[in-house]
Amino acid sequence: MKRILLFIVAVVCATALYAADYANVIVPRPLSCQAVAGEFVVTPKVVVRAENEALVAAGTIFAQNLSAVLDATLAVKKLSPKSGAINLQLDKTLLTEEYKLKIAADGVWIAGGSERAVFYGLQSLLQIAAAADEVKGGVKLCGVEIADKPHFEYRGGMLDVCRHIFTVEDVKRYIDILALHKINKFHWHLTEDQGWRIEIKRYPELSEVGAYRNQTIVGRNRTSKTYDNTRYGGIFTQDQVREIVAYAADRYIDVIPEIEMPGHAIAALTTYPELGCTGGPYEVWTRWGISKDIYCAGKESTFEFIENVLSEVLELFPYKYIHIGGDEAPRDAWKKCPLCQKRIKEEGLKNEHQLQSYFMERVERWLAERGRSIIGWDEILQGGISKSATVMSWRGSKGGIAAAKLGNNVIMTPNTHCYIDYYQTSDHKANGEPLGNGRFPVTLRKTYELDPYAELNAEQQKFIKGVQVNLWTEYIATFDHVQHMLLPRIAALAETGWSYGNKDYDDFARRMHILRKLYDKQGFVYAPYFFNGIE
Ligand code: ACM
Ligand code: ZN
Repeated sequence: MKRILLFIVAVVCATALYAADYANVIVPRPLSCQAVAGEFVVTPKVVVRAENEALVAAGTIFAQNLSAVLDATLAVKKLSPKSGAINLQLDKTLLTEEYKLKIAADGVWIAGGSERAVFYGLQSLLQIAAAADEVKGGVKLCGVEIADKPHFEYRGGMLDVCRHIFTVEDVKRYIDILALHKINKFHWHLTEDQGWRIEIKRYPELSEVGAYRNQTIVGRNRTSKTYDNTRYGGIFTQDQVREIVAYAADRYIDVIPEIEMPGHAIAALTTYPELGCTGGPYEVWTRWGISKDIYCAGKESTFEFIENVLSEVLELFPYKYIHIGGDEAPRDAWKKCPLCQKRIKEEGLKNEHQLQSYFMERVERWLAERGRSIIGWDEILQGGISKSATVMSWRGSKGGIAAAKLGNNVIMTPNTHCYIDYYQTSDHKANGEPLGNGRFPVTLRKTYELDPYAELNAEQQKFIKGVQVNLWTEYIATFDHVQHMLLPRIAALAETGWSYGNKDYDDFARRMHILRKLYDKQGFVYAPYFFNGIE
C-alpha cells in the first residue's frame, strides 16, 4: 500500500514538474538538473540547519530573501543535518564553487565545496521556491537533484557611481541582484572627470572639491547646450565603503575598486591642479566625454599622490585585484609637457604610448610589492604591458583576444555585448526607452550571445578568466533606472559566466519568464521589453 502511495505521489509531482518544468527554472542554468520522485513543503516551521556559523549567516540571508516568497522568515540554526529541514553542509570532495542540491520527501539537502558554494545552492533553492506552487501553509517543492558548478571563475558586474551617485542602500541592492545571479565580483568605478567618490583621509579636499560638479548637462551630450544649474555630487565615506565591502563579502562577492589613471582624472586635478601637466585651473566636468587633461606622468608628485590614495584603498578593499583604469587617456597634454617629455627621454621610452606603459607598470610594481595585482582597460596594451596585468576588454573583444595571445589574463566585457548602459531594443524610440547611450543596441539576446572564447585556441582560452557587464551612468540618474538597465541583462551575462557550454537562448528565455516572478517578489525593477516580446 505504502509503495503504491509513494508511486502516486511521485507521478503527481512528476506531472506537475513536467507541466511547469519546475525542475528546470534556475538562471544561470545548472550543469545538471534531474527531476526525482518526492516533494517537500516548506512551511514557516521548517528550520534551516547549518553546519557552522558561516553557513548560518548564508542561511539567514536566504531566509530573509525567502520571506518575500513565503511570507515568513525561517529559523536558521547551527545544527547537524536532519530530515524534515533545509540542511546546509560542506562536502570537501566538491570544488570551492561547486554544490549539490537535493529536494526529496525527507527535506532539502545542500552540500557545497565551501560556504560560498552552499550560498550558490541557496540562490538556486530561492529560485525554485519562487517558482513553486503555493499550497496551504507553504510552498511545495518537487523532487530534484542538482549538481552544479560555474564555468568561469570571474563573473562580474560594474557600477559607475561617479557620473551619478547612488546611496549605500542602492549599492547594496545592486549587490543583492548580483548575488541572486551567482555573480562573484563587484567592480566599483569610484573616480572620474565628473566626480571623486571615495573618501581619502589624507586628502580631505577630494571630498569637498573633487566630489562636486557645479552643474550637469541635460539631454544628449553631443548636441545639448543646456545645463541644470544645480551643484551635484557626494562621497562614500570610508565607513560606508567598509560597510559595502562587508555586505558584499557576506554574499561571497569580491569588490574591485577602480581608481582611474592617468585619464578620467579631472575631479582629482580640480582638487590638486599641480598634478596636471599645465597646472590648471581645471573644473570638475559638467558634461560627458574624454578629457585631454590627464595626470602628469613627468612629476614625482603624481605618483606620490596615487600611492597615498592607493595606500588607503588597500586598507579598505581586501580582494587581491585593484582596477587602475588606463582607458581613454589622450596624449595631447603629455606631448606638450616638458616634464613628460623629460621622463620619456630619461626612461628611454619611444613615445607617449610607452609613457603610459611606464605609468601603469610603475603603479603595478608598487601594488605588487604590497601583494596586489592590477586590472586595466584594454588601452593598457598599447605601449606594452607586464605579464601580470589582467586586461579588461571593452572596445569589442579584440583587446582581450590580443592579450590572451600574449599570455595575459583577460576579463571579457566587450561593449558589443556587455555595455548595459546602451539601449536594449533595436528601436529605442519606438519602444519608449529612456535617453541612453545610443551607439548600438545591446539586447538581452545580444548579451546572451557573447562567446568569450571566440577566435582563441584551447591554450589561449585558458587566459579568459571571465566576463562582466558594465553600467556607466552618464544617462542614469536614479537607482530605478540602474535596475532597468541591469535586469534582465545581468541574467544573460550570468549564464555565460556560469553555464558556458550549456547555453540555449530559447530555454533561457523560458526560464526568464519564471524568474521574473522572483524579481517581482523581491521588488526589483526590470526592463519590460524582453518580457513583452520586444527585442
Ligand atoms: C570605457 O568604457 N571607457 C572603459
Ligand atoms: Zn606632464
